Amino acid sequence: MTTKQSGLRLAKRLDEVGFSDIVQIRNKVMELRAEGVDVHALHGGEPFFETPPDIKYAAIQALVENQTHYAPSSGLLPLRKVLVEKLARKNGLHVSTDEVIATVGGSQGLYAAFQSVLDPGDDVLVFSPYWTPIADLITGAQARPLRVPTSTARRNGIRNTLEQFSTPQTRAIYYNTPQNPSGLVFTRAEAEEVAAFAMERDLIVIADEAYEDLVYDGEHVSIASLPGMAERTITCFTFSKTYAMTGWRAGYAAAQEPFMTALRKIVLYSTNGVTTFVQHAMIQALKTPEAEIAALREEYRKRRDLLVSGLNEVGLDCASPAGAFYAFPNAEKIHKESRTAAKMLLEKAHIATIPGSVFGAQGEGHLRFGYAITLEEIEGCVEALRRFFS
Ligand SMILES: Cc1ncc(COP(=O)(O)O)c(C=O)c1O
Repeated sequence: MTTKQSGLRLAKRLDEVGFSDIVQIRNKVMELRAEGVDVHALHGGEPFFETPPDIKYAAIQALVENQTHYAPSSGLLPLRKVLVEKLARKNGLHVSTDEVIATVGGSQGLYAAFQSVLDPGDDVLVFSPYWTPIADLITGAQARPLRVPTSTARRNGIRNTLEQFSTPQTRAIYYNTPQNPSGLVFTRAEAEEVAAFAMERDLIVIADEAYEDLVYDGEHVSIASLPGMAERTITCFTFSKTYAMTGWRAGYAAAQEPFMTALRKIVLYSTNGVTTFVQHAMIQALKTPEAEIAALREEYRKRRDLLVSGLNEVGLDCASPAGAFYAFPNAEKIHKESRTAAKMLLEKAHIATIPGSVFGAQGEGHLRFGYAITLEEIEGCVEALRRFFS
């Protein structure tokens, strides 16, 4: 007998799409705080400082001047002009104003990129551990993430490892540097290997450069700047991290045709562009002198060094992450399963972290500590770790 399926059901393509574990941890932290517990909050990924005043004033001024109407859905021309200049100066990407699009955060750029190039049944190579939403963005496009262990790739050779994990259905590579959650920064030689593999296999690269300004050791290489790569790469950027603009939902993507037409369609039919007065704030943000960004980077470096030395001191082995604002130590000393380790740290030491397994099986055994917080907060966390292990 066949059972009649209810008409009130969801689209099947959402079956495999998860909902953020990180939100559950955030809720638990809020619960503890409501009970009056002083929580050391290292679970987040938000800059420790506020959006700079000149950026806020640019938005206010735009509002006062009634910049509250529809803007072109791909972004205001003056914004696209400054983006073109920035991409050439900082990323070595030489694009026209038609090859850049404003997006609602880095997230919309990534969503649009995956939706633009993936068909049901396609596979995407993803270095793992990876930022959790990536797997959901891929499965939401009815494609499959193929998790490539980053440590194996670095040990045995990037190209060999990509080869080993790819299938005939492989269409794209998701390439994130600096990485969330590991803080890893791929070297130029590694970027060249990924590029060579992409060209050899005729793959598209979806590059995620959310943390491009936060590289402490080594250099940031935009993979699209390598020879032959601009035509096969969609590069996604965000204002969230560099300018502390997480809540503004401001980002952009760079790509050539035919991808740009697809990105434009997806942005048009999802949000019809980025809030007009936010785009004026984006223009202002792009005027930030490089010296200010460098000074911020030094602030993050201090935080990284303080946290990493504290972690190693208590026996949570942690190599110094070269970029982003996360430390990803081995936490097996607390518990073999990272979920249990995170729970124990939260309940006994009131330290909130994210279990490594949330970032893919290759993250198991680790915890993610976000250090985009004040130095005092990091000191408090290290002190709590010392008490936990004493
Ligand atoms: C690796 C990575 N990519 C992209 C983003 C997107 O950020 P947003 O949507 O806030 O711009 C994040 C945010 O945490 C991230 O960690």
